[in-house]
Amino acid sequence: MVKVAPSILSANFSMLGQEIQEVEKGGADYIHVDVMDGHFVPNITIGPLVVDAIKPNTSLPLDVHLMIENPDDYIAMFAEAGASIISVHQEVTPHLHRTLQLIKENDVKAGVVINPATPVESILPILPDVDLILIMTVNPGFGGQSFIDSTLQKIDQVAKWRKDMNLSFEIEVDGGINVHTAKQAVDAGADVLVAGSAVFNQANRHKAMREIREAVEG
Ligand code: DX5
Ligand code: ZN
Repeated sequence: MVKVAPSILSANFSMLGQEIQEVEKGGADYIHVDVMDGHFVPNITIGPLVVDAIKPNTSLPLDVHLMIENPDDYIAMFAEAGASIISVHQEVTPHLHRTLQLIKENDVKAGVVINPATPVESILPILPDVDLILIMTVNPGFGGQSFIDSTLQKIDQVAKWRKDMNLSFEIEVDGGINVHTAKQAVDAGADVLVAGSAVFNQANRHKAMREIREAVEG
């Protein structure tokens, strides 16, 4: 079963608790939380304070996507705030293995993210150490961008490595996911679909999530 992870980046921030409860009722699997620092990406969003505030509003895992420099300095804070999964970008983390150990020491599942221009081979050595690989299917920073087709090959490659190495991490995709691209990503090997605008910019969020599921299963 493919998982759907609505990204609250496209939600109404003045009523975040209700927005999250609505997608939970509609069958969301994770709540995807986009943390941006204005350095690694050209946008600023939310920090541990907001993760802490939304935690009591949902029983779903909080899937925290850190688009920040120096992630090691903030991992304990996000863990304490209630993150269930913390993913860090390969591009900002020279000691990726050490960062993954730090996430696990905080009793949180550990993920690694790669941008569209980052070679997929760069994450091969750490595949045995992750719970999740997040393949960016747009350049991180904003919701509502178009899916980049060349990322499909990377999803396919990671899925092959996972099988060859007999590993069980999840493969997540993030950016430009809609009923059309969701199917392509799942066919390539994705298990978790992050969807921001395709869920929260729709009047009926339950219907939007159902249509994404139907598209990948059909
Ligand atoms: C982009 C974020 C995404 C974003 C996706 O930097 O990581 O999670 O919310 O938004 P959509 O689904 O609208 O492309
Ligand atoms: Zn994200």
